[in-house]
Amino acid sequence: MSSTLQGKHIILGITGGIAAYKSVMLLRLLVKAGAEVQVVITPNGKEFITPVTLSALSGKPVVSEFFTANTGEWHSHVDLGLWADAMVIAPATASSIAKMANGVADNMLITTYLSAKAPVFIAPAMDLDMMAHPSTTRNIALLRSYGNHIIEPASGELASHLTGKGRMEEPENIVAVLENFFAAGRSMAGRRVLISAGPTIERLDPVRYISNFSTGKMGYAIAEEAAARGADVTLVSGPVSVEAHHPAIKVVKVESAREMLEACRSYFSDCDTAILTAAVADYAPAHPRDKKIKREHDGIDSIELVKNPDIAATLGETKREGQLLAGFALETDNAVDHGAEKLERKNLDMIVVNSLADAGAGFGTDTNKVTLLFRDGRPAESFPLKSKKEVAADILDAIATL
Ligand code: C5P
Repeated sequence: MSSTLQGKHIILGITGGIAAYKSVMLLRLLVKAGAEVQVVITPNGKEFITPVTLSALSGKPVVSEFFTANTGEWHSHVDLGLWADAMVIAPATASSIAKMANGVADNMLITTYLSAKAPVFIAPAMDLDMMAHPSTTRNIALLRSYGNHIIEPASGELASHLTGKGRMEEPENIVAVLENFFAAGRSMAGRRVLISAGPTIERLDPVRYISNFSTGKMGYAIAEEAAARGADVTLVSGPVSVEAHHPAIKVVKVESAREMLEACRSYFSDCDTAILTAAVADYAPAHPRDKKIKREHDGIDSIELVKNPDIAATLGETKREGQLLAGFALETDNAVDHGAEKLERKNLDMIVVNSLADAGAGFGTDTNKVTLLFRDGRPAESFPLKSKKEVAADILDAIATL
């Protein structure tokens, strides 16, 4: 059976650690699986393994310096970053991890990493004390927060002859991680995804508004996951305190439902997938005041409301062939029935149903419990309570099958 890596463009980044000898095997396996591999090696990496071996195996000159010394030819890290379907850094030393985490672009590998649009896989390798140091732990956590995939090192004998965690994962297993990623349709490289998230707020006067308890966590988790899979994400967000980290996420901040509609409309035509997670306020005050309403002399006892536009339904009407539209339905009762009705009425391809009746689901929690309903007639899919990050992955896996 042919590998899912067949024809894929892979950047193999090699940094200066003993485990670099295993990168030769990794390169061999990637090439055998049919991938086109461009090796980028750090100056220290070349102390461990020669570019001659690597270029012979990859069939391409190895990139290491910003330019070729005798010809002055400039090597573009930006072009490389765009060419790749995935970037794998194996081994990743403590020092390269620190540089990637903090943007210290003093060699070709780090500049390529900083320009890469594709999913990035990092296989750390170092001595156990370096691995356990809080500095390394913090830097790896930062890389994770950028959406990078960390291929955890194994425990075993290390180059120092000490035993502990820090051995680079075996080349076969690194290849398997990549193959699984592409097999599950998890690569979203080249896809343009629009996500709406958070609540909207509808002003009554300069100090008061109507809104809801949405925190945006679910939508932001989907945005991070899609970006980690290589998608270009536009995140239209109501006022929230969560932040997006991945560089491939463009955040467009809005306040009201009308502003959210305008933003979503303008980005929708350019995207191939839209996932609407926002808790859009259904109504807005009909006559918002530009001065604070005073109890003493304005004396209002009711607020006239107007209905807000339905963003999902509006996008559903203009949906083109090939565009996918997914929505959410947060319900308190008969969740699946209400969800099915919204799927139909808003012309969605999939709807994610969650219920406030389930503990750990809904607003503000870090977990969610969802059922997916599909337009194409297949049966509903229910998932157990999971972290919002895991739920985001399930949702994107489902979208990949549509
Ligand atoms: O609020 P409702 O349950 O109808 O929301 C279902 C879906 O429609 C959600 O995906 C939500 O983001 C979207 N929606 C919208 N504009 C509205 C109301 C809901 O896009 N005005």
